[in-house]
Amino acid sequence: MPVITCIEDLKRIHERRAPRMFFDYCESGSWTEQTFRENVTDFDKIRLRQRVAVDMTGRSQKTQIIGQEATMPLALSPVGMTGMQHADGEILAARAAGKFGVPYTLSTMSICSIEDVAENTDKPFWFQLYTMKDMDYTKRLIERAKAAKCSALVITLDLQILGQRHKDLKNGLSAPPKLTPKSIANLATKWAWGLEMLQTKRRVFGNIVGHASGVTDTSSLSAWTAEQFDPALDWGKVAKLMEMWGGKVILKGILDVEDAKRAAELEPDAIIVSNHGGRQLDGALSSIRMLRPIVDAVGHKTDVHIDSGIRSGQDVLKALAMGAKAAHIGRAYIYGLGAMGEAGVTKALEVIQKELDTSMALCGRQTIDQIDPSVTLIPEDFEGRWHTT
Ligand SMILES: Cc1cc2nc3c(=O)[nH]c(=O)nc-3n(C[C@H](O)[C@H](O)[C@H](O)COP(=O)(O)O)c2cc1C
Repeated sequence: MPVITCIEDLKRIHERRAPRMFFDYCESGSWTEQTFRENVTDFDKIRLRQRVAVDMTGRSQKTQIIGQEATMPLALSPVGMTGMQHADGEILAARAAGKFGVPYTLSTMSICSIEDVAENTDKPFWFQLYTMKDMDYTKRLIERAKAAKCSALVITLDLQILGQRHKDLKNGLSAPPKLTPKSIANLATKWAWGLEMLQTKRRVFGNIVGHASGVTDTSSLSAWTAEQFDPALDWGKVAKLMEMWGGKVILKGILDVEDAKRAAELEPDAIIVSNHGGRQLDGALSSIRMLRPIVDAVGHKTDVHIDSGIRSGQDVLKALAMGAKAAHIGRAYIYGLGAMGEAGVTKALEVIQKELDTSMALCGRQTIDQIDPSVTLIPEDFEGRWHTT
């Protein structure tokens, strides 16, 4: 195994190993990719405060996330088509997360189905719901997640319609890949990926194929989204979905204080400040910029989590210091999966935990509950002064 010291190392191997269309699908934001870039670069503007001569023995990152025990305050985000980055990707990622002791969230748009992941793992996972126009299908999805004993429902609110990512259109993204001269030329150089793919039957959207009626093109994420996702989703429907589920709920994709207040009225177990990793509204502010205003507005009513742009344990520490109860990672673990399957996801988690542990120590903190705003140095105008009129 090559020496892996940071998430960037995993990303380089992922890029070499996975077909171009799937690496690009992961590594892109919508339109100009401004929000995608700023999610990461805004973390760099925040600094950590070095403290010395504090007893650093007996450190721990253990915590609870929505009342569930976790090795560290980190969860794996739902990522569509994970099973195309590496054969059986969802099962491998869920196993790695389960063994490590952090939650894994399975996407509605996964390759391995809910039942398949449940059968092939031994820890409960969370299920992420996209709401479909076909309410019967949505209800069945919720029932299937219940039957699989998923321990939380993550309802994604920021994708009623799909943001445009230029590369996906140019690459003709599909699952499994359509064979064109361009894709064949690229696939020919990805033999390790191809050999593993040949050994699995999991190559289509497992939660959809055989479960949803009237779908004309199951291979294309954009066609399916345009056809099936519910553009009429509103807060009333969210409340109904929460009622149907009846268990722990996380509302994902909140980036605005007014929306956070509205979400908190529904009393979810947590909300996730997120712009979908910069994949939806290009030009929106980064998640880390919106974190403190949202924590100030609703942090006393509900747990506030964050995703988008987290690539290191330092980023996790900064987010916790700014009020997040947990951080979620998407690309950071997908790079690991694409690079080396389950071992790569474990590696990504180890890298982040080690960085978090060392950074906590050097900031004079032994436990997660000792992390407070005084850990960070934040530029005065970090959130910016923006006018809505
Ligand atoms: C390739 C890819 C696919 C994604 N698919 C989904 C999805 O199916 N459902 C969802 O709620 N979010 C999805 N997301 C968004 C992630 O859940 C998460 O919000 C985002 O990745 C966080 O940003 P980060 O990648 O910078 O960590 C996806 C993100 C990526 C990168």
